[in-house]
Amino acid sequence: KGTMPDLWQDAMDHAVTMARKAGEIVRDALQNDLKIMCKSSSVDLVTKTDQNVEQLIITSVKERFPEHSFIGEESVAAGEPCVLTENPTWIVDPVDGTTNFVHGYPFVAISIGFAVNKMLEFGVVYSCIEDKMYTARKGKGAFCNGQPLQVSDQKEINQSIIATEFGSNRDPDAVEKIFSSMRKILCLPVHGIRGVGSAAINMCLVASGCVEAYYEIGIHCWDVAAAAVIVSEAGGVLMDVEGGPMDLMSRRVLAANNNIIGERLVKEIEAFSAVRDDAPVNPIK
Ligand code: IPD
Ligand code: CA
Ligand code: CA
Ligand code: CA
Repeated sequence: KGTMPDLWQDAMDHAVTMARKAGEIVRDALQNDLKIMCKSSSVDLVTKTDQNVEQLIITSVKERFPEHSFIGEESVAAGEPCVLTENPTWIVDPVDGTTNFVHGYPFVAISIGFAVNKMLEFGVVYSCIEDKMYTARKGKGAFCNGQPLQVSDQKEINQSIIATEFGSNRDPDAVEKIFSSMRKILCLPVHGIRGVGSAAINMCLVASGCVEAYYEIGIHCWDVAAAAVIVSEAGGVLMDVEGGPMDLMSRRVLAANNNIIGERLVKEIEAFSAVRDDAPVNPIK
């Protein structure tokens, strides 16, 4: 062990610095004309800012930690499998909530997760328009702007707020299935269903205790890697939407304040798992 924890602390400090720098770039870009492009469809957007921020982060990681590996949304080639190895790996979403960014809807995050031996070591999510820096290191708690975070202690689903997202799949059957899961959850009834348009921020809201759970099928590892550490260090749980532990590479996530709420949701989501079939490039287990 010896010097290793220090090394990761160094990497984490670097991640926070980069997230802040990236956040400034994103905020500045909001004032300018954005160059908006489409990826897989007309609702799957990317901007020059997404690409530039990712490039900036890759370059500085390569410079500072030349042996480390890197997975980033805008540098994984379309349709290519993205593989997580044992090597220390930075898992980065340069702009989480690109659609929000394009519209000036104020929930946009820079998400930087870090895994060693396929285990997440730390996560940094910077909600840059709100100026909220969420950080967590394995075993050391979760924080927002330095204040400790704690999940909600709610155990009743019908006293809960649940977050989810529609993603960018507009296939009517897939959309129908998302609605059917939401209809079931809404009618439990829950207090409300929310979704801020950023997977990472939804999860940070679970960590903060104002949302009991968040689930989504179709997400990628870069959407959730950093926030997963923040949720678990705030006392929450990460599960697969069908129950059991979360697999970071499975493109599905359920983050909950506790197992009771998590398991309760698994029952309701059952009907729609394996649905968000927007070309999953990684095997769904
Ligand atoms: C998206 C956002 C959105 C979620 C999608 C993600 P992006 O990330 O997190 O909330 O519903 O599944 O792809 O493309 O804006 O980085
Ligand atoms: Ca995207
Ligand atoms: Ca994302
Ligand atoms: Ca993104």
